[in-house]
Amino acid sequence: MKVAVLGAAGGIGQALSLLLKTQLPAGSELSLYDVAPVVPGVAVDLSHIPTDVKVKGFGKDDLATALTGCDIVLIPAGVPRKPGMDRSDLFNINAGIVKNLIEAIADNCPKACIGVITNPVNTTVAIAAETLKAKGVYDKNKLFGVTTLDVIRAETFVAELKGLNPANVHVPVIGGHSGTTILPLLSQVEGVSFSDDEISKLTHRIQNAGTEVVEAKAGGGSATLSMGQAAARFCLSLVAAMRGENVVEYTYVETNSADARFFAHPVRLGKNGVEEILPYGKLSDFEQKAKDSMLEGLRGDIKLGEDFVNA
Ligand SMILES: NC(=O)c1ccc[n+]([C@@H]2O[C@H](COP(=O)([O-])OP(=O)(O)OC[C@H]3O[C@@H](n4cnc5c(N)ncnc54)[C@H](O)[C@@H]3O)[C@@H](O)[C@H]2O)c1
Repeated sequence: MKVAVLGAAGGIGQALSLLLKTQLPAGSELSLYDVAPVVPGVAVDLSHIPTDVKVKGFGKDDLATALTGCDIVLIPAGVPRKPGMDRSDLFNINAGIVKNLIEAIADNCPKACIGVITNPVNTTVAIAAETLKAKGVYDKNKLFGVTTLDVIRAETFVAELKGLNPANVHVPVIGGHSGTTILPLLSQVEGVSFSDDEISKLTHRIQNAGTEVVEAKAGGGSATLSMGQAAARFCLSLVAAMRGENVVEYTYVETNSADARFFAHPVRLGKNGVEEILPYGKLSDFEQKAKDSMLEGLRGDIKLGEDFVNA
C-alpha cells in the first residue's frame, strides 16, 4: 500500500504522517509532499521510528515522483482558519491549491483513492471532481471528503455528556462539513436518549467544534491533532477495506441523491473505494428540519466549486 500525504509538513500533515508511520500495515510506503522546505526533515525524523513503513519526503519540484504508484492520496495542503473566519473564507487560497494537486494526481496516479481534507470541504471536493472530470479520469467511487472529525467529535461530546466510554459510542453524522451543513443524527445513537434541550445544545456544539479549537488556539490555526487522528482513522479504514475487510465510514461522497450532489453518508468501503452508499435512515423531526434548512447552502457551496473549475 502506497499512501501520499500532500501538505505533509503542516499541522495536520505531520500528525497524520506520524500516525500512518506507526499504523500502516507492514511493507507500506508513505510519500510526504509539501512546498515547505522542512518536508525532507519531517520524513527523516519519521524514518527513525522502527516500523516496517518506508517514508520518503518530496519538495515542491518532486510532486510527480511523490505521487507515482500511490493507492491513496490524502490532501491536507492549504491554509487553516484564524479567529473570526469561517471555512468559506479559505476558498480563495485553497481552491487553487486543491485544483493544482488534483491535476497532478490525475497525471500521475489517476486510479488512486483521494481523501480531501483541505477546507472548505463542501466546495473543495466539487473542485476535485470537476478537475478530475476535465482530465477524463473521474471515478466518483474514489473521491472522498474527509468528515471523520465531525464523527469523532460527536462521539466524544456524547460520551462526555452521558458519562460513557467514547469507544462504545457511535454517532452518525451526515451532510457537509461546515456549520449547519454538519448534521449529527443523535436520534440514532444506540442506547442513549436526549432531552430536546440536550439535542439542540449538542448539535450546535458539534457544528461549531472547529471554532472552539480555532478560538482556543488564538490565531495559531485550527484543529490539527484531532484532525490527524480523524484522517488516520479514515485512511486506515480505506486500507483495511482495500485488503478485503468489511468497513463502513461516514464520508462526503458523490451521491446524486435528492439532497445534494455531494453528501456525507454511511459508506461501505471496498477494494475500489466506495462499494455501496448506505441509506442514513429515518430522521427525527428536529433532524429533518435541520436538513431541509441547510440543503440550499450546501448546494451553493458545491456549485461554487463546480463553477471555479468550469467557468
Ligand atoms: N476536513 C477537516 O475536518 C479539517 C479539519 C481541520 C482543518 N482542515 C483544513 O486542513 C487544511 C490544513 O490545515 P493545517 O492546520 O494542517 O494547516 P498548516 O498551515 O499547518 O499546514 C498546511 C500545509 O500545507 C502546505 N501547502 C500549502 N500549499 C501547498 C501546496 N500547493 N502543495 C503542498 N503543500 C502545500 C503548507 O506548506 C503547510 O505545510 C486547512 O485547509 C484546514 O482548514 C480540515
